[in-house]
Amino acid sequence: MTDPHPQQSATPLVLLHAFPLTSAMWRGQLDGSLAGARVLAPDLRGFDGSPPPPGVPSLEHWVDDLARLLDAAGLERAVVGGLSMGGYLALAFARRHPDRLAGLLLADTKASADTEAARANRERIASAVLARRSVALLAEERMEDTLLGPDAGPRLLAEVRGMVAAADPRAVAWAQRAMAARGESFQVLAGLRVPVAVVVGERDAITPVTDDEAMVAALPAAELTVVAAAGHLSALEAPAAFNAAVLALLRRVD
Ligand code: MLT
Repeated sequence: MTDPHPQQSATPLVLLHAFPLTSAMWRGQLDGSLAGARVLAPDLRGFDGSPPPPGVPSLEHWVDDLARLLDAAGLERAVVGGLSMGGYLALAFARRHPDRLAGLLLADTKASADTEAARANRERIASAVLARRSVALLAEERMEDTLLGPDAGPRLLAEVRGMVAAADPRAVAWAQRAMAARGESFQVLAGLRVPVAVVVGERDAITPVTDDEAMVAALPAAELTVVAAAGHLSALEAPAAFNAAVLALLRRVD
């Protein structure tokens, strides 16, 4: 796990990217808009140009990577935030390292586990991309269309299409299997005693608003922001509204 975008300032915030993307999806957060925050936006192992972790695919490998990243940065605690797959990882980190969590940002994600049908679909994708040594299947199934809202526009669509096409097939397969293996996290949410913000695009077709409302219902205290008109990649599609929610969370942490 590498962090190509370290920024210096007071409040440490880690941003964990969605599948099958990289930290490039955080460009609207890494451009100085989150002034006052020290932002770390790692590329998860496998999506950073190196092979995915060895052994049985599990988000727990990335939890270890994240703990090592914080250690290397000299950070005992941080606000950990993730979008979709990044949110699954943030929840896994919260389960293993509650003492290292200063706050939690959950964006366009869910606390429920996969259904059997969803697991089977992930295995279908994993096997296909490995067999073909190509992620073309993701484009063939028009994955980028489901990542963005209907109003996103051709430039953003082309950008996301490029990001999807650049993913390493080994990482795509590994991540699908790791996500399939994850359990539900509602108990983790119920036990949290740090500020939490939940953000979701109003037009999110992958994790609809109801998934995020279910997380808010399980949390002792959380703020829900529904980003008007945005789809699944709300941080990329509507950075101003997304960043306002992040800055409000960082103020609550301070
Ligand atoms: C993501 O955006 O990270 C993925 O859609 C998550 C998933 O496949 O569950």
